[in-house]
Amino acid sequence: MKRTMLITGASAGLGAALGREYAQRGWNLVLLARREDRLTALAAELHAAHGTQSRVIAADLFSETAVPDLMQALDGIQIDGLINNAGYGHPGTFLASDWEDHRRFNHLMSVVPVELTRALLPGMVDRGFGRVMQVASLAGHMPGSKGHTLYAAVKAYLIKFSESLNAEMDGTGVHVSALCPGFVLTEFHDVNGTRDGINSLPDFMVMDADICAKLAADALEANKAVFISGRVNRFLARLNRWAPWLGRKVMNSGSGRYRKTD
Ligand SMILES: NC(=O)c1ccc[n+]([C@@H]2O[C@H](COP(=O)([O-])OP(=O)(O)OC[C@H]3O[C@@H](n4cnc5c(N)ncnc54)[C@H](OP(=O)(O)O)[C@@H]3O)[C@@H](O)[C@H]2O)c1
Repeated sequence: MKRTMLITGASAGLGAALGREYAQRGWNLVLLARREDRLTALAAELHAAHGTQSRVIAADLFSETAVPDLMQALDGIQIDGLINNAGYGHPGTFLASDWEDHRRFNHLMSVVPVELTRALLPGMVDRGFGRVMQVASLAGHMPGSKGHTLYAAVKAYLIKFSESLNAEMDGTGVHVSALCPGFVLTEFHDVNGTRDGINSLPDFMVMDADICAKLAADALEANKAVFISGRVNRFLARLNRWAPWLGRKVMNSGSGRYRKTD
């Protein structure tokens, strides 16, 4: 019997690429995002290409009741794998947005992934098999800098959460991994208005979403607690550990190019 992977934010970018990757690996899918037409098109594409059975769930994870609503919508479907991927970068400085914007951001980026993991993990442990990926970011390893103020903070939170959970799941058959990509070609930078900055980066700084998805699935299979995709990104994270003052300098000098800082 095929296993089923639930992917949040599957209507675009990394989430859609991860859907394609897991369909190729023989999984069925539950695809969740707000844009139902995109999810339905992806489900049809993957059914034609691999015979994948997908359940499409159109939902807004900003909702306070998103996780209980989703558990109800799953209607007993057995979930063997979870990828908490839905996300965005909220532009501007901390004081440029009101609390409601920050509250919604925190909810989608940190509360929902942890709450959904808490809801689905017991079943995986009972069955002795599970795969859980938190899509974090290289930003969670680097110093915070001006603009998109809470982004690095929520990604660091997901990295630490994954590390602890990976240790707790040792011997249960459940693998847990935090994926930490650097720049990936997706709609992320259109949504937060930084496309021009990203387009000006050298090619070696930007990864294709399909390549990132394959590396991420391999890392989850290998049960790597924290996986930074790409050699350049791993070097940057290491550089920051060895010389935090240099990491801060790099981040503060470059952040205006790929972050909205006003
Ligand atoms: N691209 C990068 O350079 C990069 C680097 C590091 C980490 N990441 C992380 O990778 C993840 C995926 O981002 P991406 O680059 O693939 O961006 P993307 O192309 O903009 O995709 C974001 C996905 O999240 C979904 N989403 C956003 N808000 C949602 C909400 N309220 N409810 C439900 N779904 C929602 C979007 O679907 P709908 O709009 O249809 O709801 C979309 O499917 C994010 O967590 C991001 O922080 C990205």
